[in-house]
Amino acid sequence: MRITVVNGPNLNLLGVREPARYGTATLAEIEAAVRARARELGAEIAWAQSNHEGDLVEAIQALRGRADGALLNAAAFTHTSLAIRDAVLAAAVPFVEVHLTNIWGREEERRKSLLADLAVGIVAGFGARSYLLGLEGLVGWLETQRRAGA
Ligand code: DQA
Repeated sequence: MRITVVNGPNLNLLGVREPARYGTATLAEIEAAVRARARELGAEIAWAQSNHEGDLVEAIQALRGRADGALLNAAAFTHTSLAIRDAVLAAAVPFVEVHLTNIWGREEERRKSLLADLAVGIVAGFGARSYLLGLEGLVGWLETQRRAGA
């Protein structure tokens, strides 16, 4: 099972960026934890991060036919980017939307996601653990699909 984790802008600064809000784990630490859990679950991880919308669009387009599923934290682009929404639609790869924070408990402009209705599911508010919970949910969902012959 091949899963790609796509991370949007400013997530490269996790650990130093607003630690009271986003936690002290770095993105590299989150990546290591996701890779370790994926090994236990029998999944293979590819990892991407970019601060640039076009790079994220290309990373998402590239999922088509190459990944069985994705975890997507599009960060601020979650709330603004029709281009990322369109890339997700074009890639047609099942994904779980993840956020460190509970975006629905934050400022008005963060309370909407342009991706949420396309996701298999959403995990938000558990800090770095959101990624692990998202991975477990996605792997379980893909296994169910496989068993159903989808
Ligand atoms: C975030 C929430 C977004 O609103 C914010 O712009 C981020 C991170 C999260 O993981 O909580 O950069 O996606």
